[in-house]
Amino acid sequence: MSAGVTENLGVTEGVTEGATEGVTEGVELTTLLVAAARAIETHRPDALARDRYAEHFVRAAPAGAHWPVHPRDVPDGEADPLWGRLGRYFALRTRAFDDQLLRAVQLGARQVVLLGAGLDARAHRLDWPGDCTLYEVDRSEVFAFKQRVLDGLDTGTGEQRTAHRVTVEADFRTDWAGALTAAGFRPDLPTAWLAEGLLLHLPGTAERELFAAVDRFSAPGSTLAYEAKLGPESAAVRDNPVYTATLERTGIDLPALLDADPRPDTPADLTARGWSTNVHTPFEFTRHYGRGPLPEPDDALAANRWVFAVRP
Ligand SMILES: C[S@@+](CC[C@H](N)C(=O)[O-])C[C@H]1O[C@@H](n2cnc3c(N)ncnc32)[C@H](O)[C@@H]1O
Repeated sequence: MSAGVTENLGVTEGVTEGATEGVTEGVELTTLLVAAARAIETHRPDALARDRYAEHFVRAAPAGAHWPVHPRDVPDGEADPLWGRLGRYFALRTRAFDDQLLRAVQLGARQVVLLGAGLDARAHRLDWPGDCTLYEVDRSEVFAFKQRVLDGLDTGTGEQRTAHRVTVEADFRTDWAGALTAAGFRPDLPTAWLAEGLLLHLPGTAERELFAAVDRFSAPGSTLAYEAKLGPESAAVRDNPVYTATLERTGIDLPALLDADPRPDTPADLTARGWSTNVHTPFEFTRHYGRGPLPEPDDALAANRWVFAVRP
């Protein structure tokens, strides 16, 4: 499971000073929220995914300085709407997409593209074949923060990974695909694509263009996994404790960060382009993995879908 990372991942004193840019506000801050959820999950005895990098990202950013990174910091445990229920959702999502990417690689993909990678540490924490390249696409500010934290890790030998990691600084509202190919990406090879926690923040046009680009750059055998949100949410859903607790305790107004455009029907779009597509609720994965959120009234997770597509 581990990519050879030593147990001691302490941050070298002083190294992360000034590393706060990039995850201080807006949608970039949401990647810190997900990192905190992964940090907490990492310390659970029955963790669905372990990410020993996550708590270092959280602690390096002033916004996260007082956020929990361990289950003992969450007195209400599973009943806590933010660090219990939403945190568990992020952990489940991490595991489901970990498994999907590793399956794609087992089937022969040697390129993985993490769209909106944020503080995703998959390049470091999963076992990849030595000839595998992981492309991470996100904004430059996010990578500046991430790299400073990685550089400051006191592992003895610095950050470690089995895959070749390439960061691609781009905005999905511009020609990100051009930046990806300029970084060495090969459209003629099968690719495992992932868009985790990204699409709901993009304008509808950017989302449509993203799918067109992924389709254009996907050789036969490529896979695409992503998280989508169906339609606008009612006022009652926006008042769900998952959202209100997140706003009260972190200042992140999640509904306000969801793009207001009508969402394109991306599974139908992929099917029309010849992909084979499966759409699931997160709750199906709760049953599959044996832990995770279950439906509740006016649920902030009810409109979430995880989509898995294959280009034959
Ligand atoms: C909720 S975070 C998810 C991060 C990561 N995929 C994960 O699940 O941990 C969303 C990420 O998408 C990136 N993002 C959002 N809109 C973007 C855009 N227009 N261009 C580039 N990156 C964007 C943010 O910077 C952030 O890192």
